[in-house]
Amino acid sequence: MDKLAINGGTPVRNEFIIYGSPDIGEDEIKEVVDCLRTGWLSTGPKVVRFENDIKTYTGAAHAVATSSCTAALHLSLILSGIGKGDEVITTPMTFGATVNVIEHVGAVPVLADITAGAFTIDPDDIEARITPRTKAIIPVHFAGNSCDMDAINRIAEKHGLTVIEDAAHALGTKYKNRIIGDGENLTCFSFYVTKNVATGEGGMITTNQNDLASKIRVYGLHGMDHGAWQRYTKTDTIHYGIVYPGYKYNMQDLNAAIGIHQLKRLESFIVKKRQLAGMYYDLLGNEESLILPARFPEGDGNRNSWHLFPVMIKPETLKASREEIMRAIIEENVGVATHYRAIFDQPYYIDKYAFNPEDYPNADFISKRVFSIPLQTRMTEQDLMDVVTAIRKVLSHYKK
Ligand SMILES: Cc1ncc(COP(=O)(O)O)c(C=O)c1O
Repeated sequence: MDKLAINGGTPVRNEFIIYGSPDIGEDEIKEVVDCLRTGWLSTGPKVVRFENDIKTYTGAAHAVATSSCTAALHLSLILSGIGKGDEVITTPMTFGATVNVIEHVGAVPVLADITAGAFTIDPDDIEARITPRTKAIIPVHFAGNSCDMDAINRIAEKHGLTVIEDAAHALGTKYKNRIIGDGENLTCFSFYVTKNVATGEGGMITTNQNDLASKIRVYGLHGMDHGAWQRYTKTDTIHYGIVYPGYKYNMQDLNAAIGIHQLKRLESFIVKKRQLAGMYYDLLGNEESLILPARFPEGDGNRNSWHLFPVMIKPETLKASREEIMRAIIEENVGVATHYRAIFDQPYYIDKYAFNPEDYPNADFISKRVFSIPLQTRMTEQDLMDVVTAIRKVLSHYKK
């Protein structure tokens, strides 16, 4: 067997492949150059265009662009009136931002377990954790798979709760023939650099609620009653009014310029990622130390948008920890990343809330075993074969 790179052997490939990286084309580049030439760098016509494109794509009545999904989630909580002492139920299997924003508004995060298959929040466990102080639920669509939104919306309606969807992983995801982000719920997307539509940094809130959409726009730009787009035009009034001590959460035209063209390519990105995922199922399906992500039938109107390809190790078959396996794969020049170490295992949340991992058996199981392997649209078949070879090489080295 070849010596592992981590032990001084030759890596499987010379060039490091990152688990997720943007696929930027000439159109994106030209549109950014256009911003530079016109001088519209910050919020302006390209943000308006990108918002309109997202409205058309999702079918939502409103789309408000933000500087990030974190900003979108924060604004959504504020405008839903969530504050001190309120409880917000969310999943432990998420990026820190989802829970950090609950802290930012002074509310209390309450974690509910996830389902073993889709890694998404378990509606039954949500219901079990509702108290008189519960005000909202933040379901997180995971890795491109939708949460069970019918069940979650039903629970929310029954108990009078707000639902804010964290759709950072889910632009293009479909649930029962509906695209995520097409409804009443405030739905927050991310265009961070690893996402299916990447603008560098960026986010978007979609909703069909008219009153909330216009408030989000004002609260997200200093609380000014005139947006930047109007302020610098000839027809605008000379003064603006501060109607709320708002935030600086607006998207720049520089980012929207990229997003406009990324969005046009999203459907082809999803097709390519589905093909790559299919190859992983074929090539890694028989690895006895790996559990591949559950495959859901897509025929009944559900669609995975394949943001990530999370695999799990079977520790009982291996002489090394998940971290040692990941380190060894990285040394073979294949980038892997953890999505996620559960929130109940993060230092701040352990100190503040002392969550007990045993209360979340599925999340605890997954959190200890999971890592994501490269899934990006610029990958060639050879890149994918290298990933597979590196994983096989490392797993067979550490096999018990
Ligand atoms: C599930 C989830 N929620 C929220 C965020 C925050 O997104 P952003 O980086 O756009 O603020 C991320 C980012 O990676 C995420 O994965």
